[in-house]
Amino acid sequence: MKVLVIGSGGREHALIRKIGQSERVEEVFVIRGNEAMAREATVVDIAENDQEKIVNFAKDNQIDIVVVGPEQPLIDGLSDRLTAAGIKTFGPNARAAQMEGSKDFAKVLMAKYDIPTANYETIDNKEDALAYVKAQGTPIVIKYDGLAAGKGVVVAMDETMANEAINDFYAEEGAKVVFEEYLEGEEFSLMVFVNDDFCIPFDTIAQDHKRAYDGDAGPNTGGMGAYCPVNHISEKIIERTNNEIVYPVVEAMHKEGLNYFGILYVGAIVTADGPKVIEFNARFGDPEAQVLLRRLDTDFIELIEAVDQKQPLDLVWQNKTICGVVLASNGYPGNYDKGHVVEGYDYQKDYIVSALKQVDGQWVTNGGRVMIALGEGQDLQEARVNSYKLVEHIKSKGLFYRNDIGNKGL
Ligand code: AMP
Ligand code: GLY
Repeated sequence: MKVLVIGSGGREHALIRKIGQSERVEEVFVIRGNEAMAREATVVDIAENDQEKIVNFAKDNQIDIVVVGPEQPLIDGLSDRLTAAGIKTFGPNARAAQMEGSKDFAKVLMAKYDIPTANYETIDNKEDALAYVKAQGTPIVIKYDGLAAGKGVVVAMDETMANEAINDFYAEEGAKVVFEEYLEGEEFSLMVFVNDDFCIPFDTIAQDHKRAYDGDAGPNTGGMGAYCPVNHISEKIIERTNNEIVYPVVEAMHKEGLNYFGILYVGAIVTADGPKVIEFNARFGDPEAQVLLRRLDTDFIELIEAVDQKQPLDLVWQNKTICGVVLASNGYPGNYDKGHVVEGYDYQKDYIVSALKQVDGQWVTNGGRVMIALGEGQDLQEARVNSYKLVEHIKSKGLFYRNDIGNKGL
C-alpha cells in the first residue's frame, strides 16, 4: 500500500513514522515534509496548497490513501478535491472542517445539540464587543472566529487586556469574534477517529501545554509539550466526556450532514460541572500526535480501515508514559529568526522534527516550533527526566523550551 501524508511539521513526522511501521505499507510519501523526514519517507517538493498538483501526484503514483495532517488544506477543500478524484482521503471535507475553521460554527452546533461548553456570544463589531465585555466583566475569553494557528485566543484577566484584544481582532475588516465564559479546570486532549455516525475515541488522552512559558505564563502557542497517558484525569471523566460530548457531537455532525471522515480533536476542560468543550480541531493535535503515536501499538492503517468500515477496534498501547518537550525558536509565537545552528541532532528516533533544514552539512532552525524531544519511562517522573536529558543534548543559541512539561501530572 502507498500512503501520502500532507504537511511538514512534527505531527506529520510522527505520522509518517507510525504509518511506515505498518507491514501493510510499502512506501510513504510526504508533501512537502521537511529534510529530517527524508530517511523515513519520500519527501515530495509540491506546495501544501497546490491542490491540483497534489491530486495529480496521488493519481500518478497510485496512492491508496492520503492522510492530511494540518487544518489549512482541509479547510481549503483538499479532501473534497482528492475524494472527487477517487482517492481515499483521511481528513474531513471543507464544510466539516469548519468544526475547527470557525469557532462560531462549532459553538452554534454545540448550542443546538446541548453539548456542554462555555456560554458564549459572537459579535461582529467593536462597539458591541466593548459594551459586552463591560457588562460581562472579566476574566473573559476572546477568540478570533477564523484560523489563527493557536494564537487567536486571548484569556483576558482584566478589562484592559480585553480591550486590547478587541482592538486587535477588530482591526481586520469584517472580523467576527467569539466571547466566552472563562472556565477553570484541567485541560486535556482527546482524539476521536470519526466516520460520519461512527467513531473510535482514543482510550488514552494527552495533555498539551499551550502557553509559551513556565507556569502557564505568556501567550498561547500551538503547544509547547505534551505527555500521555494522563493518569490524574480519571477514567470516569473520560467516560463522561465520551457520553456527554463525543457521541453526541458525532451524532450532531451526522444529523447536520457533515459526513465527517477523519480525526476530531476534542479539547476539553474538567470543570466543577464536569467536562466541557474548549475547542474542536479537525485533525491530530501537534504535539499530542507525537506522544500518542509513539505510545500507540495498534497499526495505524488497521485503525483507519476499521474507522472506514465502521468496525469497532480495541486500541493497544505500550505500557509506558511518553513525555515530549518542544524546542522552539526564541521569540515564538511572536517574531523569531531562522537559521540558527542546532547541534546534537542526527535523525535519532527520540526527536521528532517540525522545522530543521540542512545548510552546509549543519542542521539549522527553520520555523517557530523546531523539534520535540520524546522521553519514555515506566511513569511520568521517569519519562520527564528522560525527555529533559534529550533536550539538554541539543545545543543551539536559537532555541528555548519550557522546564515544567508534565508537572501537572506529578
Ligand atoms: P483554543 O484555541 O480555543 O483551544 O484556546 C486556546 C487556549 O485558551 C485553551 O487551551 C485554553 O487554555 C484557553 N481557553 C480557551 N477557551 C477557554 C475558556 N472558555 N475558559 C478558559 N480558558 C480557555
Ligand atoms: N496542540 C494543540 C493543537 O494541536 O491545536
